[in-house]
Amino acid sequence: MFSKPILVGASALIGTLVSAVSAAPTEAIFDVTNPKFSNGLNGTRMAASGSVWLTPHDHFSSSVGVLGCKTDTNHFAYWPEAISCNDFCIEVSYDGRSALFMHLDNSAGAHDVSFENWNYLETGYPASEKTHIKESAGFTATYKTVDPNRCRGLIKTSSGKMPFSAATSINFVANCVLNQPNSWVAQNFELWNIYDSQCNLGHNELCETPDFKAGFNQAKCGHTLGSQDPLVGQDVWNILYPSGNRSEA
Ligand SMILES: *[C@@H]1O[C@H](CO)[C@@H](O)[C@H](O)[C@H]1NC(C)=O
Ligand SMILES: *[C@@H]1O[C@H](CO)[C@@H](O)[C@H](O)[C@H]1NC(C)=O
Repeated sequence: MFSKPILVGASALIGTLVSAVSAAPTEAIFDVTNPKFSNGLNGTRMAASGSVWLTPHDHFSSSVGVLGCKTDTNHFAYWPEAISCNDFCIEVSYDGRSALFMHLDNSAGAHDVSFENWNYLETGYPASEKTHIKESAGFTATYKTVDPNRCRGLIKTSSGKMPFSAATSINFVANCVLNQPNSWVAQNFELWNIYDSQCNLGHNELCETPDFKAGFNQAKCGHTLGSQDPLVGQDVWNILYPSGNRSEA
């Protein structure tokens, strides 16, 4: 039920300066026409709408390096399909209720969503209220991808842009910028010098986007890119299954 998050090995590329003479980075980047993750897991393209067996997830993660301290981690989808530069905002419905989730992590096969709102969909009460927690094996919910701007309220940056880890998300972001320049992510991303999605390492500073088109893939940050200095004050909270207790990630 709680599938382990799949980590994309983009951090392996820290320190890589791609040849400036090539038109695009020569490092293999996420290919939207043939979605395949660098860990060897192939993601299929997600249908625009459908139904899934929906299960709960209680530990925030993002395989594409989205930062949990600057997004609403109670609204994430952990699904096996390929993560889109554009169609990541999903409205899931069950029993007359609906909730928005951002599909920015991959599971090995399950269709998990944040426990807080999984419980809301099933019972009408968020898990953190603790009064109506239902430990079920899941339920069949319908979903549809919606305008990504509808998920803007789940993003807590002052610009409203999606916050990514400059060190570990660069393959995903570069792919969006180079291969899908009109996509929402390509036009609405920020790179932060925070190393992990749980925001425990790094520096809380915005970085300058490298010139992807010229073949560069290293952001310029105030401190060393990819620094793993302890970071305090950028907390990520998990709502734990099945207690509904809050715990810092
Ligand atoms: C991904 O696809 C390739 C080529 O079709 C295949 O060889 C490989 O086994 C697949 N990997 C997984 C994890 O399914
Ligand atoms: C949840 O929090 C309550 C109140 O702090 C505590 O008594 C309980 O033991 C916690 N449950 C779990 C499973 O940690």
